[in-house]
Amino acid sequence: MTLSVVILAAGQGTRMKSALPKVLHDLGGQPLLSHVLKAAHEIGAYNIYVVYGHGGEQLKRVIGDVGCRWVEQSQQLGTGHALNQALPLIDDDNKVLVLYGDVPLISADTLRSLLRQLDGSTLALLTAHLEDPTGYGRIVRDSKRNVCEIVEQKDASESVKRITEINTGFIAAFSKDLKRWLSQVTNKNSQGEYYLTDVIALAVKDGFRVHTVHPSDPIEIMGINTRSQLADMERNYQRRIAEKLMLNGITLRDPNRIDVRGELIAAPDCVIDINAVFEGRVELGRNVVIGPNVCIKDSIIGENSQIFANSVIDGAIVGESARIGPFARLRPGTDLAADVHIGNFVELKKAHVQHGTKINHLSYVGDTRVGEDVNIGAGTITCNYDGANKHETIIGDRVFIGSDTQLVAPITIGNDATVAAGTTVTKDVPENVLVISRVPQQVKTGWKRPRKSKSGKDTAP
Ligand code: UD1
Ligand code: CA
Repeated sequence: MTLSVVILAAGQGTRMKSALPKVLHDLGGQPLLSHVLKAAHEIGAYNIYVVYGHGGEQLKRVIGDVGCRWVEQSQQLGTGHALNQALPLIDDDNKVLVLYGDVPLISADTLRSLLRQLDGSTLALLTAHLEDPTGYGRIVRDSKRNVCEIVEQKDASESVKRITEINTGFIAAFSKDLKRWLSQVTNKNSQGEYYLTDVIALAVKDGFRVHTVHPSDPIEIMGINTRSQLADMERNYQRRIAEKLMLNGITLRDPNRIDVRGELIAAPDCVIDINAVFEGRVELGRNVVIGPNVCIKDSIIGENSQIFANSVIDGAIVGESARIGPFARLRPGTDLAADVHIGNFVELKKAHVQHGTKINHLSYVGDTRVGEDVNIGAGTITCNYDGANKHETIIGDRVFIGSDTQLVAPITIGNDATVAAGTTVTKDVPENVLVISRVPQQVKTGWKRPRKSKSGKDTAP
């Protein structure tokens, strides 16, 4: 049976006080709407319709082509009216499941159990019992505990307000039935809206039974209306990721101080210190140690490697048993073999570095291939940019590069060559030689430093 999912996302989100549509605000590194789309894909939705009101162009641009169809609801006349914008596009025999763009953590499992309740004479509803049901629509049941209607808070009598079973909003029914019921829904209520919830009473009148299911976790049904709720949900979401990591054998120095904005795949016995931020897809091999304040994005770190405090790694591959940082920056295209050491204030970009090489202090190495067991001294710069084009530097095996050296690319340094400290290398260097471009040291006796004259002006010696 074909499943169509309709995601309601036309609400203004006024309380966010934002130029960004509410459903584009970020949770765990992804727009709220993307979380909902992911759940829809997970349950095998054939068609996904997103009902939007404002910022349509922005929505389409940010969310991109994920196989959903965009349906405009130019005026927000209620949840029933919103669903009605998509229904004409959906075949009568489809199952329809309604989701919400601002309720991001609904799980595929809960949605599957909701859909299992659906047959030709039922409607499926996700409900929950809340200690404080204020604000929600209430589930009204008859003496046999069968659901007979949903009453919105603003239309509820005192006795209905005491009901603690609430409507989460998630509902599933067949397209042809929803079309029939929604055509009968009016806006004669306290808010002057076309309520989707009114279809419950109409279904019951039609002889349908309403089957209810509860979410396995209360966070699944929580919606976002304010930045404060968004921040709470972010912490909650991060804490869940932290718990999963710990279950998988990762030590977190403080599970409240880790942020995973994407996917972190970590092998057992990794240790992650406080305030680490992971973005995109990051893989850590066994026994990787991540120091405090480290940011890693879209990278792979080999087993037994250590990343020391305040390092920033983006689009890089780090081999086994490497030592990176503190204060190192690995930029996209960096590929380090095993046992490489990259120290403080070293920036690498598109640098392929072979086994055992050390670049320990204050250097920039970009568009470069470095061989095995090379030592690059402090303050080495690959001058890869001539103002118009980028050029490559190739450094052979066992090369020793002295401190404060410039390698003006394109340039090749042969195996076992030694570059003396302070050298500016402008021509290719053969294997096994010493290259030096320093001015020989001169000693001038009797030379005096300038002194301040009485008039306050400097005097040259
Ligand atoms: C709705 C339910 C209520 C339930 C609650 C759960 C109705 C009438 N009431 O109330 O029973 O307890 O959700 O949170 O359905 N939207 C549109 N277009 C519109 C109106 C709303 O797309 O014209 C979208 C909003 O973006 C939002 C969602 O529908 O994501 C819910 O709308 P909202 O007005 O917040 O419903 P509630 O009053 O909270
Ligand atoms: Ca409302």
